[in-house]
Amino acid sequence: MSKKIFSGVQPTGNLHLGNYLGAIKNFVDLNNDIQNECIFCVVDLHAITIKQDRDQLTNNIRETTATFIASGIDPTKSIIFNQSKVHAHAEGSWILSCLAPMGWLNRMTQFKEKAGKDKEKASVGLYIYPILMASDILLYDATHVPVGEDQKQHLELTRDIAQKFNKDFNCDDFLKVPEPLIKKSFARIMSLKDGLKKMSKSDPSDLSRINLTDTKDEIINKIKKAKTDSFPIPNEEKKLIDRPEAENLLGIYSSISNQTLDKTLNEFGGKNFSDLKRDLAEILSNKISPISNEIKKLINDQGYLDKVLLQGASKAEEIAGKKIEEMKNIIGF
Ligand code: TYM
Repeated sequence: MSKKIFSGVQPTGNLHLGNYLGAIKNFVDLNNDIQNECIFCVVDLHAITIKQDRDQLTNNIRETTATFIASGIDPTKSIIFNQSKVHAHAEGSWILSCLAPMGWLNRMTQFKEKAGKDKEKASVGLYIYPILMASDILLYDATHVPVGEDQKQHLELTRDIAQKFNKDFNCDDFLKVPEPLIKKSFARIMSLKDGLKKMSKSDPSDLSRINLTDTKDEIINKIKKAKTDSFPIPNEEKKLIDRPEAENLLGIYSSISNQTLDKTLNEFGGKNFSDLKRDLAEILSNKISPISNEIKKLINDQGYLDKVLLQGASKAEEIAGKKIEEMKNIIGF
């Protein structure tokens, strides 16, 4: 069955292995199936919910675009664009924010994590960020949204908002209720320094993550320094309980090798972490270094990246512009 795929990535720099294994690798697989219609968005309006440096933001928009392409997304077989170039996203977000109850937003755990202790100082944009995400998805009638585990709650909110719009305006099925595509395993890659913390671009320690722009030597060094525990590697999954660092490294190995955790446990059960780390560093550098090299090459071709984004925005505008007009008509504007 053909799927309409929509997903987004924030251009906030330091795209990492979590973004790749949790999301971008799946974008590539979905894009390789010619039956699917794929739209991948560089969500720059989301990025400014936290203060950004002007020049860095511009560079990061290009770098995220380069990362999509370097990872294997074909811009001739998908739409790649940046969100701020298509007006309908912000307009749709306003409309949807007028019908989403605050109670729904108050439940969002990511806002609580990102706002930290001083919620009063967080921007209103950070608070309503999941509504902009709903607008992104619903404007394209997306049927499937590939994301990492941390976006699950936002997708549930998107589904609720779509259903409320359809009910409030008595327009059954106008906004399509999307299905999340979250991998059953390895959808949450953890920090290399703390197996209980998500791998994240905002972690102050660069050793906590493998960046998609890291060199081979940096990857080897980071895996060498990754936290482990003092027990040998088990051969059964149930023995990984309370061993988050071991589970994370074995999960990363399984995900990057496209194999089950069981198979990895068979391979490494009873061995030392030094064996796992040696093989993991090798497979990661073999997979990530070509992407990293390609990103660096593409970044130097600004004209090409800008052209991809411009052409993508024009195609996205056609779809989203039509949907927002229909939405406004339903409301009575
Ligand atoms: P963002 O930019 O934080 O992350 C991009 C994608 O990477 C996934 N991800 C992870 N997956 C596994 N392990 C990790 N440690 C990890 N860290 C990040 C995220 O789940 C995401 O899929 N709100 C979104 C962007 C967005 C969006 C959308 C996504 C805006 N509009 C519409 C889908 C559809 C975000 O901030 O992702």
